Amino acid sequence: MKAIEQYLIEVSLKREQVPSFDEYPFCLDAVRNLSKIKLHPKVTFLVGENGTGKSTLLEAIAISLGFNPEGGTRNFCFNTYKAHSALHDYIRLSRGVKRPQDGFFLRAESFFNLASEIQRLDAEPSFGPPIIDAYGGKSLHEQSHGESFMALLLNRFGGKGLYILDEPEAALSPTRQMAMISRVHQLVQAKSQFIIATHSPLILSYPYARIYQLEEGGINSIGYKETDHYQLTRDFLNRPEKMLEILLDMSSGELTD
Ligand SMILES: Nc1ncnc2c1ncn2[C@@H]1O[C@H](COP(=O)(O)OP(=O)(O)OP(=O)(O)O)[C@@H](O)[C@H]1O
Ligand SMILES: [Mg+2]
Repeated sequence: MKAIEQYLIEVSLKREQVPSFDEYPFCLDAVRNLSKIKLHPKVTFLVGENGTGKSTLLEAIAISLGFNPEGGTRNFCFNTYKAHSALHDYIRLSRGVKRPQDGFFLRAESFFNLASEIQRLDAEPSFGPPIIDAYGGKSLHEQSHGESFMALLLNRFGGKGLYILDEPEAALSPTRQMAMISRVHQLVQAKSQFIIATHSPLILSYPYARIYQLEEGGINSIGYKETDHYQLTRDFLNRPEKMLEILLDMSSGELTD
């Protein structure tokens, strides 16, 4: 998708309205130092250590766009556990001229709830085709985690969409992660835009993308090969014996068997 056609251009924090930078979610380094993030017209990745605020930020963007915080399309309005932060009230989205015709917010954590919601809605009398048809026709509960996620990606994501994915790799084998890269590229060519939080050095390799690393000091744009994900995985796979020696040595004596 050309920059001029992108759906979401920029996310900024309404800093002047933040009540206190001492409280969650504003106390997170990534939020405290946030002024604005320019999104890539095709794929924007958020990376960073556990707890740096990727999900918090992704969720705020998704809620601002009108998605259900639990995940899903904009049509789902179920709520099993209210755990989202108030960050969405304090961010400003700069949108493009064109509106997406499709969209999805995937939280790996609540994929199970989404599958249950589809089953519940389909059990109710309706004149329309079953919702599950759009997800490959087979209950997402009757497919493995990875199978159901691939079904979603292949059948439900239709292009001209804005897709927000939180750790999509959670369900996927390395082979399927590579298949996912191909599917993302197909959808990008069909005028889609993605924002993806990931720990996967495979998925992160997608080249038509910008990577933002959430770290102490804020959110910084970084090259693929500069990421910890790439460097650590490379070092590990190049010399697994050496790395294991170090790791096992570090923990020796902590456990007795
Ligand atoms: N409701 C909450 N109240 C207070 N702190 C919270 C709340 N929800 C999350 N946090 C904290 O905010 C921080 C950021 O959480 P978040 O889930 O956004 O991290 P993340 O970058 O997505 O991590 P991961 O890679 O493990 O998914 C964490 O330290 C977490 O404990
Ligand atoms: Mg997370």
